[in-house]
Amino acid sequence: MKRVAVLSCLILCLSISDERQASAQGRTVLDGVYSDAQAARGKEAYTQGCVVCHMESLRGFFDGGAAPPIIGENFVKGWEAASVLDLFAKVRDTMPKDNADSVDEASKLDILAYLLTMNEFPAGEADLSMDEAVLAGTMVVPLGGLTAPEPGASVRVVGCLARAPDKTWVLTNSPAPARAWGGQASEGAALEAAASVPLGDATIRLMDVYPSPEAHLGHRMEAKGLLIAALRKRGEGDLIRNQGINITSLAMVAESCGN
Ligand code: HEC
Repeated sequence: MKRVAVLSCLILCLSISDERQASAQGRTVLDGVYSDAQAARGKEAYTQGCVVCHMESLRGFFDGGAAPPIIGENFVKGWEAASVLDLFAKVRDTMPKDNADSVDEASKLDILAYLLTMNEFPAGEADLSMDEAVLAGTMVVPLGGLTAPEPGASVRVVGCLARAPDKTWVLTNSPAPARAWGGQASEGAALEAAASVPLGDATIRLMDVYPSPEAHLGHRMEAKGLLIAALRKRGEGDLIRNQGINITSLAMVAESCGN
């Protein structure tokens, strides 16, 4: 009985500070990733291709349009931690809703710059480029920066795969779970970047791991999924956070863990 308590405490008694996560390494939409000239071109193209449904205000059905708003806090929140490529792909592949081929790709990129300016993200010197690696490496974050994930949020964790004594799988030496967008494993440059993520001291329980990741014991892994977290009181004013991830993907970053 005592052993069980100690074990579950090893796994679950993680105190993780509540400080907001810094926008990590890499570029974000706060860094001036488009130019004013590009946004001005985008406004023209928006007026041609999008205004009929999303309206001049970009507020869509709040102003009598046939589409959701593409401006404001809730819109940005919905794309938090996505890459600019994710957002661009949505527009490139599906908009205008009635006829996605009616607006060319370059104009859609200009429109993206216009969406950024209308959402109050700062302009910079250079145009947002069509380079997919650049778009993929630029993160959408709210004006106030990335927010700490709430229970149920999509998160990503990088840590060392280990087996807890109770046979469940855990990632040890992990930093606090970071907000993610979508549950698919990172690929290419994004997965490589996980090799240099500074490790931390959290242990995160992995739920629903299938198939068995046994072959990756001791490897540095990236896990994505939904954050399971609860605050529990451990005495006077001492809150601890129990954390796990309901896994949607688990990918190997490196064959050693590097800590
Ligand atoms: C015929 C009406 C129509 C036109 C024209 C149109 N849209 Fe949309 N748009 C919609 C509808 C409906 C949705 C919600 C359903 C969906 O996401 O597919 C939507 C969703 C979106 C979203 C996702 C919103 C969110 O909350 O994540 C974006 C971004 C967007 N549109 C951008 C554009 C851009 C840019 C253009 C012009 C190139 C455009 N749309 C043209 C109808 C339209």
